[in-house]
Amino acid sequence: MTDRKASLSIEGNEQPIELNVRSGTLGQDVIEIAPLLSNNYFTFDPGFATTAPCESEITYIDGANGVLLHRGYPIEQLAANSDYLETCYLLLNGELPDDKTKTEFENIIRMHTMVNRSLENFFSGFRHDAHPMAMLCGVVGAMSSFYHDSMDITDPTHRLITAHRLIAKMPTLAAMCHKHYVGQPYMYPDNSLSYAENFLHMMFGTPCEDKEINPVLAKAMDLIFLLHADHEQNASTSTVRLAGSSGANPFSCIAAGIAALWGPAHGGANQAVIEMLEQIGDEKNIDEYVKRAKDKDDPFRLMGFGHRVYKNFDPRAKVMKKTCDEVLSELGLEDDRLLKIAKRLEKIALEDDYFVEKKLYPNVDFYSGIIMKAIGIPTEMFTAIFATGRTVGWISHWNEMISNPYRIGRPRQLYKGHKQRDYPAKK
Ligand code: SDX
Repeated sequence: MTDRKASLSIEGNEQPIELNVRSGTLGQDVIEIAPLLSNNYFTFDPGFATTAPCESEITYIDGANGVLLHRGYPIEQLAANSDYLETCYLLLNGELPDDKTKTEFENIIRMHTMVNRSLENFFSGFRHDAHPMAMLCGVVGAMSSFYHDSMDITDPTHRLITAHRLIAKMPTLAAMCHKHYVGQPYMYPDNSLSYAENFLHMMFGTPCEDKEINPVLAKAMDLIFLLHADHEQNASTSTVRLAGSSGANPFSCIAAGIAALWGPAHGGANQAVIEMLEQIGDEKNIDEYVKRAKDKDDPFRLMGFGHRVYKNFDPRAKVMKKTCDEVLSELGLEDDRLLKIAKRLEKIALEDDYFVEKKLYPNVDFYSGIIMKAIGIPTEMFTAIFATGRTVGWISHWNEMISNPYRIGRPRQLYKGHKQRDYPAKK
């Protein structure tokens, strides 16, 4: 549709307020509401379910039809034909790289996988059982104290080197969180390995012996990073954009995104799914938990189900489910107890009127935890892995915002507090 006009008539106002309606390449049109302010109105949209705070060319989601495109490419096709680093290049630059460019990009990332030795001192300050997301949030924020050579956010070359450093170093830092948690020595990156192989090497290798990396698990790990790479203006990406709108340095913005992702309603759901399946414990208990999930007075929710945007299946969950079957069969775990509970729970939920009416389908987190558990990744590391995969999405959105004209984000409110009143006179 072409851009067109809307007219808002409000009872008691003589004149309607004229608003512009704009169309994107795909998806919903938007109504530009700036004229409301000069007419002394705000819009009211708790949870920003109906608010588009920006233009973007990076990712498109059609929630009604379960469509997810990264720079126009469907997630199913990227999952089948691409890999995580190629998808990183696509998200950052807008086009798929040719073979030469892809090799150059892989080499650039490879040259930035080590972190400054001083960062190890940050980890020694954490309790041994600190949650990996607490550690990751701290050390990524601290990275802004190391790169004084590239902190001019108006310089595209500084923004690019920062993106490369973050993509390259997140697996190293995430693995260091795990090593600190289990009290083992940190493993340095091995640049002869692929991105996902390197992560598994740093997670499970020890200086005492080389750890054989199963290629099926490495491919599943790469796919988990790829499926988590970006997802439009979700809570953590919106947090990164809002932090970036003040001109804050990119490492602090990514640390803010990590903090927002940690919540169980968002990236913390993958850990919560496993904890829920463990809590259900046996298929015979599923009906009781589904009943609780439907009870308004019971705070229990089926973790890994539902989505703000997808009111159909989450296309990532379909790919994740297929990978889950492949990984568990490779490991001879087809009869995995949690997988059996998960599959039965999914079947029951998808046939239950409550979930059908509310369009609650499994989301990206429902099966990812089972795969990561099968790979041997501890549950507390799941969200740190989500953050590692999502870093490219966060920094791509940050870069898109900073590369174009932007203003500091400053939402308003519907004030429901006291009218002005005077301080009581001293007795
Ligand atoms: C991610 O935004 C993104 O793109 C996020 C993400 C990404 O890649 O960045 O896709 C990653 O965060 C996936 C979502 C992971 N979270 C979970 O799996 C946690 C469980 N899901 C819910 O908490 C919930 O579904 C949300 C948070 C995902 C969505 O919440 P909304 O859009 O605010 O929906 P809602 O809470 O208003 O629920 C609508 C209705 C409610 O009932 P009513 O008040 O209308 O009667 O559905 C019910 C809810 O009670 N409901 C659930 C439910 N999710 C919603 N009931 C039971 N179990 C659930 N999981």
